[in-house]
Amino acid sequence: MEFNGALIVMAWITAIVLVQNCSNVHGRYHFHKGQRTQKPGEDPCSDAPPPYSPPEEAVPSSPAESAPSTPAESAPPAEPAPSVPADPYPDDPGNSTADCVFDVTDFGAVGDGCADDTAAFRAAWKAACAVESATLLVPSDRCFKITSTIFTGPCEPGLVFKVDGTLMPPDGPESWLKTDSPRQWLVFYRLDQMTLTGSGTIEGNGQKWWELPCKPHRGPNGSTLPGPCDSPALIRFFMSTNLAVSGLRIQNSPQFHIKFDGCEDVLIQKLSISSPKLSPNTDGIHIQDTKGVGIYNSIISNGDDCISIGPGCTNVDIEGVTCGPGHGISIGSLGVHNSKACVSNITVRNAVIRESDNGVRIKTWQGGSGSVSDISFENIQMENVRNCIIVDQYYCLTKDCLNQTSAVFVNQVLYKNIKGTYDVRNTPVHFACSDTVACTNITMSEVELLPHEGELVEDPFCWNAFGIQKTLTIPPIDCLQEGEPQNVAETPEYSC
Ligand SMILES: *[C@@H]1O[C@H](CO)[C@@H](O)[C@H](O)[C@H]1NC(C)=O
Ligand SMILES: *[C@@H]1O[C@H](CO)[C@@H](O)[C@H](O)[C@H]1NC(C)=O
Ligand SMILES: *[C@@H]1O[C@H](CO)[C@@H](O)[C@H](O)[C@H]1NC(C)=O
Ligand SMILES: *[C@@H]1O[C@H](CO)[C@@H](O)[C@H](O)[C@H]1NC(C)=O
Ligand SMILES: *[C@@H]1O[C@H](CO)[C@@H](O)[C@H](O)[C@H]1NC(C)=O
Repeated sequence: MEFNGALIVMAWITAIVLVQNCSNVHGRYHFHKGQRTQKPGEDPCSDAPPPYSPPEEAVPSSPAESAPSTPAESAPPAEPAPSVPADPYPDDPGNSTADCVFDVTDFGAVGDGCADDTAAFRAAWKAACAVESATLLVPSDRCFKITSTIFTGPCEPGLVFKVDGTLMPPDGPESWLKTDSPRQWLVFYRLDQMTLTGSGTIEGNGQKWWELPCKPHRGPNGSTLPGPCDSPALIRFFMSTNLAVSGLRIQNSPQFHIKFDGCEDVLIQKLSISSPKLSPNTDGIHIQDTKGVGIYNSIISNGDDCISIGPGCTNVDIEGVTCGPGHGISIGSLGVHNSKACVSNITVRNAVIRESDNGVRIKTWQGGSGSVSDISFENIQMENVRNCIIVDQYYCLTKDCLNQTSAVFVNQVLYKNIKGTYDVRNTPVHFACSDTVACTNITMSEVELLPHEGELVEDPFCWNAFGIQKTLTIPPIDCLQEGEPQNVAETPEYSC
């Protein structure tokens, strides 16, 4: 207890010192602004692939456009890009905590793309974390390299991690520290009211990870070598609440680009995520065990799911997202290793999905339990998509999974105004529901899908799927059964 008392006193002293430091840092920071020599055209990360510039008009406008912006979201940089963010209180030097900026270069970060800036980032985080509404600034026109880092809270509320320059991990597995987890790079843990934003780029340097011989068909002669094949998720938010992520370009992740697990109340907007079409397992945004998520006005192209929604997610609203190339928007996979999965109240609206292996997908393993319910896919434009609408309750990576009697119950799924073109290698509508646990209350309305090129080769497929068609579906579906199945899934196994 006495020890704790001493700690508290220490914490107070540290806090006071930090608040004082805060104006110092700010002073030095303005000093830097005057001293820094601008070298237009010089790119410290010239080895990095050119940044992806999404076409502005590709994102359908939507009401979410006018959603409240985060405190750090200042006006877009004018030309030439300012090296400091706009000061929201320029005439009030007395308000030192409201605009407290911790520039990583003031903590010794070099930003030449070679130096290891991890220690500077950790020090800047420690300082910013202790001050309310602080900004940790990764300044523009520089490229910072840091090793796998867990930025841990709790921190004072309102912390903004602002990336205006480029931030990247070491290049590939060979340069990964053996003491660092190979499963994650930037981790934000135990935070409340935190924002990750900026006009810069988080560059994943994924190439060497994608080429590991344990990745699908990357071994000798197109084989896939066995063995642990962990690759780091680029950004992970873990056990945190009231998060906002916006504005950034996030690219070339070794594995998932951005992942949320065990979080609540997350607002994601205006992200541009990209990696090559053949980069394995590079999901754009992945959420699991996370409640209350808004994903708006973002553009995602990659080698796996555009957005994937894992078990334990509820109240998720997705709007104004453009996906492709990639594997589409996926709920699942759920129920792996006979687990119970619950996913409910997921809305996907005003999306464009193009050049994709799937459109909107629900995938579950056999043998699971729990349910997926109250799902709605509305106003979705498909362009040359395989499996535009798919429920796959036989998801299996090896093709030799055994049939089992239990399954995750799929109920109350709405497909409304889903139009566009499909790739004729697969049927555009595919409902493969469990043998024993039928899918129920599937509603289709204004679903009109035409071959992108060539002739219709396969008819819509349904197995044990029940629901209604409110309008004539194109191509016509006669396999969706009306009414309710004989054995409605009502046992506790399926309740969530
Ligand atoms: C500082 O700014 C914050 C944010 O606008 C405001 O809530 C606070 O009252 C200000 N404090 C002072 C002393 O002006
Ligand atoms: C790869 O294929 C070539 C030609 O078929 C063969 O000579 C070689 O042994 C194969 N290598 C391996 C590692 O299987
Ligand atoms: C469904 O989720 C939305 C947020 O996406 C929320 O506003 C709404 O209240 C939820 N509905 C129910 C019935 O919980
Ligand atoms: C599993 O069940 C499905 C649907 O009845 C059937 O098409 C498939 O052949 C079965 N697979 C095995 C391995 O028994
Ligand atoms: C069936 O689904 C529709 C739309 O998804 C929903 O409005 C309706 O309440 C559901 N009916 C039942 C019985 O669950």
